[in-house]
Amino acid sequence: MQNQAGQPHHRAHQEEGPLNGAVALITGGSRGIGLAIARRLGALGARLALCSRGAEHLQAAAKDLADSGLKSFPVVADVTRAVEVSAMVEHIGGQLGPVDILINSAGIGIFGAFHERSEAEWDTVLNTNLKSVFLVSRAVAPEMIRRRRGHIVNISSLAGKSAFPNGGLYCASKWGLMGLGNCMAEELRVHGIRVSTVSPGSVATDFSPHSGRDLDKLLQPDDVAHAVAMILTEGPRSFISEVLLRPVQKS
Ligand SMILES: NC(=O)c1ccc[n+]([C@@H]2O[C@H](COP(=O)([O-])OP(=O)(O)OC[C@H]3O[C@@H](n4cnc5c(N)ncnc54)[C@H](OP(=O)(O)O)[C@@H]3O)[C@@H](O)[C@H]2O)c1
Repeated sequence: MQNQAGQPHHRAHQEEGPLNGAVALITGGSRGIGLAIARRLGALGARLALCSRGAEHLQAAAKDLADSGLKSFPVVADVTRAVEVSAMVEHIGGQLGPVDILINSAGIGIFGAFHERSEAEWDTVLNTNLKSVFLVSRAVAPEMIRRRRGHIVNISSLAGKSAFPNGGLYCASKWGLMGLGNCMAEELRVHGIRVSTVSPGSVATDFSPHSGRDLDKLLQPDDVAHAVAMILTEGPRSFISEVLLRPVQKS
């Protein structure tokens, strides 16, 4: 049996492993990096809630995980909308219990000369990549604080650490995310909650075209999932605040 990426499925046993029974909400869990993270966390024992706007991809992701022996709870929600985010978190709480692990992976890229971009494009990129992290983290934080338990991992980008032509909107969203994430980490650590950021270089997903690049040399979604798993399985006394993830070979 093969999964959507054409790789053999590895049977996994949920609720046996270092994340045993922890409820993990993965935004953007329907495909790409989010789906790879979901698969990895499920294999480590987490109970999975996935969200995205598109029901079709979400159902396909849930089936793909089920084929690997992993149950998941798909929720259609737009993470740029506060009302949908609150309803989603309440729904997950009722079905699976409070969120222990939040992976903010939902994201979008719009590239091109900044002076040719529209206000609507600015809003789409900033709302999806930055405001959503504020909204979803805000929705899960009070219960994490009450329980003195939780881990939030933001999927940023090396574009949140550097600048390049035609990257203005995307870089602004990811630099903003670095600032938001670092402040969240400082605010929440006193409550025993850890906030980490993973910043990958280009990853082979449908996120953006990779024309002219050697796909075999690009980072794969699994590489990001590995970094997230490493962060989440760190011992209780410390936390890995930031990971910069680069391919070994330039493509
Ligand atoms: N791929 C790369 O080269 C790369 C490199 C560094 C960092 N990243 C970051 O990694 C994250 C994931 O990227 P990816 O490569 O996995 O992208 P992807 O394959 O395009 O997947 C994006 C995911 O986000 C969801 N999403 C987008 N807008 C949403 C919204 N408003 N509400 C809910 N879900 C939404 C999508 O589902 P729907 O469209 O159905 O909503 C999909 O599940 C992003 O934050 C991206 O910035 C990517």
